Parts: sequence; C-alpha cells; structure tokens
Amino acid sequence: MYLVTGATGIIGRPLVEELLSGGAEIRAITRDPQQAGFPVGVETFAPEAIHTALRGIHGLFVHPRAAKDNTDELLRLAAEQGVRKVVVMSAINVDDDPGQQPSRYNGDRNAEVERAVTASGLPWVAVRPSSFAINTLGMWRGQLAFGDTVRGPYGGFAEAVIHERDVAAVIARALLDDALLGRRMSITGPEALRLDEMVPIIGAAIGRPLRFQEVPAEAAAQAMIRNGLGEQFVRALMARYRREMERPATVTTEVETILGRPARGFADWVADHAGAWS
Ligand SMILES: NC(=O)c1ccc[n+]([C@@H]2O[C@H](COP(=O)([O-])OP(=O)(O)OC[C@H]3O[C@@H](n4cnc5c(N)ncnc54)[C@H](OP(=O)(O)O)[C@@H]3O)[C@@H](O)[C@H]2O)c1
Repeated sequence: MYLVTGATGIIGRPLVEELLSGGAEIRAITRDPQQAGFPVGVETFAPEAIHTALRGIHGLFVHPRAAKDNTDELLRLAAEQGVRKVVVMSAINVDDDPGQQPSRYNGDRNAEVERAVTASGLPWVAVRPSSFAINTLGMWRGQLAFGDTVRGPYGGFAEAVIHERDVAAVIARALLDDALLGRRMSITGPEALRLDEMVPIIGAAIGRPLRFQEVPAEAAAQAMIRNGLGEQFVRALMARYRREMERPATVTTEVETILGRPARGFADWVADHAGAWS
C-alpha cells in the first residue's frame, strides 16, 4: 500500500495513475477529498486524517508543496507507523544558493523538505526534476490566445524540460523498487531546447505558424509584474535566465537509465497536451 501526498497536483495525478497501472493499492491525501475525482480504488484522506492514512503503508511519497509546513510531523508519524520507504521530490536546482532559486520566492521549500526526508532515519529516495514542460502553458497560452507570436525575454535560454509523466514514472519506480534507495537523482528531459525553439514545436503540433519574438528583459519583467507575478520571483527568474545563458543546459540520462526507455521529448509533451493550447 502506498500513500501519495500532493496527489491532485501536476505530478500527483500521473503518479496515482502510474502506481495504479502497476497494480499497487493507493491512498491519497488532498485538502478536499470530495473534489479529488480519483479513479475508483483510490482511498482518499484529508491531511487531518494522516494518522489513519499512514496505517499499513509501505511507501510514502512526500510532495514538497503539500508537505512543506508539516514535514517533520509527517515523517515522525510515518516512522511510528512502520513506513518502510519515503520518496521525496525536490528540484534540480535544490543545492543552488537559495537566493537564486526563483520558486523559493513563491514559497516553495524544496531543500528543507528533501533534507528532512534524508535525515529522517527512514530509507529514502530523492527525485530532483528539471523544469516541467507544463510550465510553458502558464508562460505562453495567454499570449497565444490572441495571436501567433510569443513575446518574451531570453529566447536563447535553453533547458531540458521534463514531461510530468516521466517525473511520475520515476517516482513510482522509486516507490515500487528498492534499487534506487539512498539516491538523489537529477532527472531531465532528453534534450535542451531554446525558448525560441520550443514555440515553433508547439505550432507544428497544433497547426499554427507560431514564433518567438525577443523583447528586452526589463520590459518583459515589468509586464510579468503587472500581470501579477511577485517582483522578487520575476527578478530571480530573469537572473536565472541571464546566468544560465552563459553555460550549457544540464541534460541527464537518468530517466532512460531508470525506466529502460527514453525520456519523453518536448514534442511528445505538446502532443499529449495539444488541446490545452486552443
Ligand atoms: N514547476 C516546475 O518546473 C518544477 C520543477 C522542479 C520542481 N518543482 C517543485 O515541485 C513542486 C510543485 O509540484 P507540483 O507542480 O506537482 O505542485 P502542485 O500541483 O502545485 O501542488 C500539488 C498539490 O499539493 C497541494 N498543495 C498545493 N499547495 C499547498 C499548500 N500551500 N498547502 C498544502 N497543500 C498544498 C494541492 O493538493 P490539494 O489541493 O488536493 O490538497 C496540490 O494539488 C514545488 O515544490 C516546485 O518547486 C517544480
């Protein structure tokens, strides 16, 4: 029996599906069990019922956003209930200077959650994904509702974005198989693509002549802030683009090594989400 925290989220839902398709029994934590809409067979619990939810659990997935405020208590209860393994997700940049991690300005605490798990005394696996491919929807869908041009900064910035189903598949493997115990695994998509290469790939999938048009970084930053993004987050994001333009993007082969098949590429991700762009 496996317990998934953050189960209604971007990684949680495909993780639940992945575990179910492997024949595992699943419990899921969500703040709103009535709205969760999980497949039949998934037992759903509110965070307040964590004590009950942990009974008889073999492997626990700790989602950093869902567990952030109560990781120590969650791990204490897990140990008390005899949980045999904890898999935690963090991020590929988790060892970077905290001030250089944009998501920290939005409240994420990947380093603290990962550290709590690896210091818990329970057998653990840490999964550190690169940027999710699905971020591109948030970045560009709004603009593409009004035309075929994405205007943004740093078109030459490249990264190997990862499909959320690959993140979920690696986490599922870490839960189901003991071979990965004690590892911190940086997982990425199969190839680094520039932002100005990704936009035409979306266009090819949805049959539109999409293109990226570079705008100065400061103008783009001001527009993001006007659109409601936090200023510190935006500044850290711009600094990351600037910094990482200077060095080759990180691409690892961990997904293929762990899963025995290539990581899904960005074009595969777009094909899986083609309907979301219209
Ligand atoms: N986006 C990226 O490119 C990227 C890359 C690498 C790592 N990460 C890290 O991955 C994490 C985000 O993963 P994700 O996209 O799967 O998360 P998500 O979908 O935003 O959230 C997962 C679930 O956690 C619960 N949750 C969200 N905020 C919460 C809060 N404040 N308190 C309690 N529960 C909360 C929600 O479930 P309920 O509403 O059902 O309770 C939500 O469905 C972050 O730590 C981020 O730094 C992100």
